[in-house]
Amino acid sequence: MEQTFAMVKPGAVQRELIGEIITRFEKKGIKLVGLKLMQMSEELAKQHYAEHTEKPFFDELVKGITAGPVVAMVLEGENVINIVRTMAGATRPSDALPGTIRGDYVLDTGKNVIHTSDSKESAIREINLFFKKEEIINYSLATETWIYVLPKTE
Ligand code: GTP
Ligand code: MG
Repeated sequence: MEQTFAMVKPGAVQRELIGEIITRFEKKGIKLVGLKLMQMSEELAKQHYAEHTEKPFFDELVKGITAGPVVAMVLEGENVINIVRTMAGATRPSDALPGTIRGDYVLDTGKNVIHTSDSKESAIREINLFFKKEEIINYSLATETWIYVLPKTE
């Protein structure tokens, strides 16, 4: 089953949105297989945002993501990379639709409450950056037969 990485950013932790955000994924039927509250170092932040090194807002990005604790998570499910990204909503607040996390909670691009992996490659890279193998838990949910048509043939 596919896995992705998501992170509740410092602003959302301060705004007490951790439960609200995780609840949305749980209600969708997505399985949490890794979860931690952590303070990111500047080094980890720079690695995480390596693709944005040349952007004018890079320093602001690193400062913002290290401004307080974050909640990092690994989520598992069918097509979960795209689905979690869709649930997070568009980067620009004016494009983020109501019903998405950013559509419901964000007014400023620089304070956009959640990070989600944007591709298979990013998901693998980011999961490995934040989680050790033993921190990702392989288990079944009793509800799985009510969430998926099983057995999966593909
Ligand atoms: P992430 O899931 O956080 O990676 O967001 P994204 O994939 O929707 O956007 P992208 O990877 O392009 O940008 C990474 C982060 O940089 C965004 O989540 C924003 O917090 C921030 N960001 C992007 N564009 C701007 C900008 O024009 N100004 C500022 N201040 N921040 C920006
Ligand atoms: Mg991104």
